[in-house]
Amino acid sequence: MNSGFGLGSFPATRMRRNRANGWTRRLVAENRLSVDDLIWPIFIMEGSGQTSEIAAMPGVLRVSVDRLAWHVEEAAKLGIPALALFPATPVGLKDAEGSESANPDNLICQAARLLKREFPQMGLLGDVALDPYTDHGHDGVIRDGYVANDETLALLCAQALNQARAGIDVISPSDMMDGRIGALRAALDGEGFIHVSLMSYAAKYASAFYGPFRDAVGSAGALRGGDKKTYQMDPANSDEALREVALDIAEGADSVMVKPGMPYLDICRRVHETFHVPTFAYQVSGEYSMIMASVERGWIDHDRAMLESLLGFKRAGCSGVLTYFAVKAARVLAGG
Ligand code: PBG
Repeated sequence: MNSGFGLGSFPATRMRRNRANGWTRRLVAENRLSVDDLIWPIFIMEGSGQTSEIAAMPGVLRVSVDRLAWHVEEAAKLGIPALALFPATPVGLKDAEGSESANPDNLICQAARLLKREFPQMGLLGDVALDPYTDHGHDGVIRDGYVANDETLALLCAQALNQARAGIDVISPSDMMDGRIGALRAALDGEGFIHVSLMSYAAKYASAFYGPFRDAVGSAGALRGGDKKTYQMDPANSDEALREVALDIAEGADSVMVKPGMPYLDICRRVHETFHVPTFAYQVSGEYSMIMASVERGWIDHDRAMLESLLGFKRAGCSGVLTYFAVKAARVLAGG
């Protein structure tokens, strides 16, 4: 194999020479993780003066809007480029059509207005999908027992416009309806939001690793054990992810996302190598929980496992990663 590359062979070639010292390892490192690679997902809840820890995600909080400036301050100081906002919508505001998603005073809009005022240098991603707002927990509206694609598109457009008006910079649809990128681009452009960008959850799989998130936003109970397999992708598939990405780019996506992250690094690499567009990964709630559970048992080292998992995304070709570790990673990277 060595000689096949024309790069020499043992014993003249000893691969360990470049690994022998800290300084040689630093010089030959092919990938590097920096704060510029991190997007921090945060959860917003009702009320005032509220913070609550998500049980399966140690260290991850839901906070009320009046606690947001406090919550985000360190991330801003560390230079984290962007936040992704998720609402824990009160049960009483959920309905079959997810109508709270279009309320100009919903939690996301309140949060966006405040964050834009307090931290104007930070980018804001708004997740667009109906599941935090529907009483059945699905990402779209249900017609004849089926999550209806085209009827849902109109509601996603209304939700996205509502977020754009509140100051969201990046609309990030996570619903996996067909045609939503084209529909969202047209809706945004129609209202003059030509600078609002679209980060598509292009290859989003029907995954077990979303469990803790669904608890965090309260969609798990609503879903009552149901699944999202008629719209999220089958974990068996890889070529299908490339078709999804191709369609989203054609419809106007500025960047694309693969989700979950760690079990799908092969997809990240294929997407990046095939399309050469900014490719992001979402290291989802269950991935965070898995690492934290091992850390809590003393089985693995927190900082090393965190950084190694994040570096994997860079090696796979990602421009950046949405991760609940963002602040902790930025702290370590800053030497703190
Ligand atoms: C919902 C959405 C989900 C996540 C982000 N947006 C969950 C789902 O599809 O049920 C998961 C994020 C995570 O697990 O961290 N549209």
